[in-house]
Amino acid sequence: MNKEKIRHLISQMTLEEKAGLCSGADFWSTKGVERLGIPAVSVSDGPHGLRKQSGEADHLGLNESIRAVCFPAGCAVAASFDRELAKTLGETLGEECQAEDISTILGPAMNIKRSPLCGRNFEYYSEDPLLSAELGAAYVKGVQSKNVGTSPKHFMANNQEYHRMTSDSRMDERTMREIYLASFEGMVKQARPWTIMNSYNKLNGTYLCENKEILTDILRKEWGFDGYVMTDWGAMNNRVEALQAGCNLEMPSSGGATDAEIAAAVREGTLSEELLDDSCEELLNIMFRYVENRDPSARLDLEKDHETARRIAEECIVLLKNEEQLLPLSPKTKTAFIGKYAAAPRYQGGGSSHINSFRVESALEQAENFADVVYAQGYDDAADVTDEALLSEAVEAAKHAKAAVIFAGLPDDFESEGYDRKHLRMPDCQNRLIEAVAEVQPNVAVVLHNGAPVEMPWLSKVKAVLEVYLGGQAVGSAAANVLYGKVNPGGRLPETFPLRLQDTPCFLTYGGENDRSEYREGVFAGYRYYTSKEMPVLFPFGYGLSYTTFDYQNLHVEKDSIKESEGLKVTVDVTNKGDRAGKEVVQLYVSPKDSKAIRPVRELRGFEKIELQPGETKTVSFTLDSRAFSYWNTEIHDWYAESGDYEIQIGKSAHEILLREAVHVESEKAIPKTFHLNSTLGEILADPKGKMIMEQAMGGAMGAGAAEMAKSADKDDAINAEMMAAMMEAMPLRQLLSFVPGVTKESLEQLVAALNA
Ligand code: BGC
Repeated sequence: MNKEKIRHLISQMTLEEKAGLCSGADFWSTKGVERLGIPAVSVSDGPHGLRKQSGEADHLGLNESIRAVCFPAGCAVAASFDRELAKTLGETLGEECQAEDISTILGPAMNIKRSPLCGRNFEYYSEDPLLSAELGAAYVKGVQSKNVGTSPKHFMANNQEYHRMTSDSRMDERTMREIYLASFEGMVKQARPWTIMNSYNKLNGTYLCENKEILTDILRKEWGFDGYVMTDWGAMNNRVEALQAGCNLEMPSSGGATDAEIAAAVREGTLSEELLDDSCEELLNIMFRYVENRDPSARLDLEKDHETARRIAEECIVLLKNEEQLLPLSPKTKTAFIGKYAAAPRYQGGGSSHINSFRVESALEQAENFADVVYAQGYDDAADVTDEALLSEAVEAAKHAKAAVIFAGLPDDFESEGYDRKHLRMPDCQNRLIEAVAEVQPNVAVVLHNGAPVEMPWLSKVKAVLEVYLGGQAVGSAAANVLYGKVNPGGRLPETFPLRLQDTPCFLTYGGENDRSEYREGVFAGYRYYTSKEMPVLFPFGYGLSYTTFDYQNLHVEKDSIKESEGLKVTVDVTNKGDRAGKEVVQLYVSPKDSKAIRPVRELRGFEKIELQPGETKTVSFTLDSRAFSYWNTEIHDWYAESGDYEIQIGKSAHEILLREAVHVESEKAIPKTFHLNSTLGEILADPKGKMIMEQAMGGAMGAGAAEMAKSADKDDAINAEMMAAMMEAMPLRQLLSFVPGVTKESLEQLVAALNA
């Protein structure tokens, strides 16, 4: 519906109707205005399947929802590093929404994985904002191509479950821009989501629902968002302030209470009716976009979508270890499938994303179709207690087989929406089982079902490890297909697996105190921290093996020196050296060489997933813009590509750089400087105009005094020239008064005036 028509509708609405449009009718739908033909529309979780509730509703996944397809969760999808795949997932969900008359799916979940302890990491993509933004954008484009809206969430700085509804995430401007906003920024700019969901928490003291800087100044004005903002379920604090800040829709219903507050505020003159009208326009614009583009032919095709879920799951599996090429297994090798998750995989997390799956496939049932397998349950995941009978049965089965595959991971209560993990351990009973099986069987592979990193104390005792994450309802058949080589694994870790919890960047402050969570690690999130500190990790960001090997050659950087606006084309040749087709994730990192800012040693600035046949070579190209070299500069409150040398690095992970090329970047942005008596000589001399003025002044009285000081450095060994240079560099202008004969307060003030003229 065009703007005029929407404006006309709004002009016919009563104040109460307009206020009413700004909160839900019930758990899952908005209010319609029948007499004006304004429809009520429904929304549904999200993100990795439909949780449409027709009976009793809740936002914690407690009550039944319709039978649907559970696709791989965000943790798994991210491991694909595959934009096309994320788009396919989006398209499929969009079709399902059309079939079920859902105007907006509540996803993707895009918060940065600040700590592996966050109970909800299984829904989120990555510790890296570029990867998260790119996959989020692809998902949003996919869903919206079916004329259904998305609600990327939880905007923003919602990186812990502990006290998520009241906690205050405190972070500096640069950290906010480079890490926590950046995850949403790229997605909003590329994919233009129809809606966005603000989070429960506060950011630097202000609830996100009321945060005008975030919801209006940044989201709408800077990034061009033109949809509507809805709250997370129950995330409203002050309804009137929230409306003024740019939050359009309160979800779920407030029972009319906050609608009355809005109407009263307009009557009292504390809220402008024009602002309310604008908010209604943003809401109606999106609601009609859905209603007017309904696809009446859409039907839920569970079988077809189950196949899609399997295909996606296969692409998300990460091979972490494969000694002596234990994998792929031969179907003829008698293999013991051990562990409850072989027969009943853990494939999704708990909470609002919980899907009522119409079918779940296990690796065991899939492998039994074509391979020689026996099964032993090994453990139960209801409690972390070793069942000695199950353990010895598993050890016996392993002894009498030629190989053992142990299906392990985190039980439901180890990670969930609503609370955080306390440690990175798997259940002791599972660790013990793996150790016991590895003692009697040299050929052990472990398949991990978990939404976030775990410690692997048994790693050196097993030959292979497959990370399948929470891979959705078809994860079992996907895992079997990878174990037996029907599919060559091509996933890569979208997050670092640390050696110990104590190594994680926010170990000392995660969770916070008194409802304040201080992000003191700043921009050093995830691999930015481990690589800058050169710390060993269990498995690095970007890491993953394949059943084939890849060779990288001919890194070519188009120019060795550029102006920042010119951009830079980079190419590299990748060859499949093995004898089976495989997929590789080519990762490009940028590393500043002589930055004056405190920056991570390298940051991911591009990635491409390619498929190569045996012997095939492909040239992969990247185009870097000035943002690839930039950090957020708090003096100019903008991105700043500092002049200097940078290295373009191509790697197999954040910790394994294979090829490097240098490039010089010339900044085109000036940082305006104001000088004062406390500006140091170093700062002044670094500025071209400052240098010129200073040199002139140095020629006069100041010059004579400085020459005296320099001479004394020559005379006295204790004051060597280097020390003198450092002292001068760091000396504030005002100190010249004490040390340089002939300098007066007036002459310094004149100098400052000239510097600032
Ligand atoms: C979750 C959201 C979800 C909403 C509706 C909230 O508790 O944080 O992610 O979309 O409930 O179920």
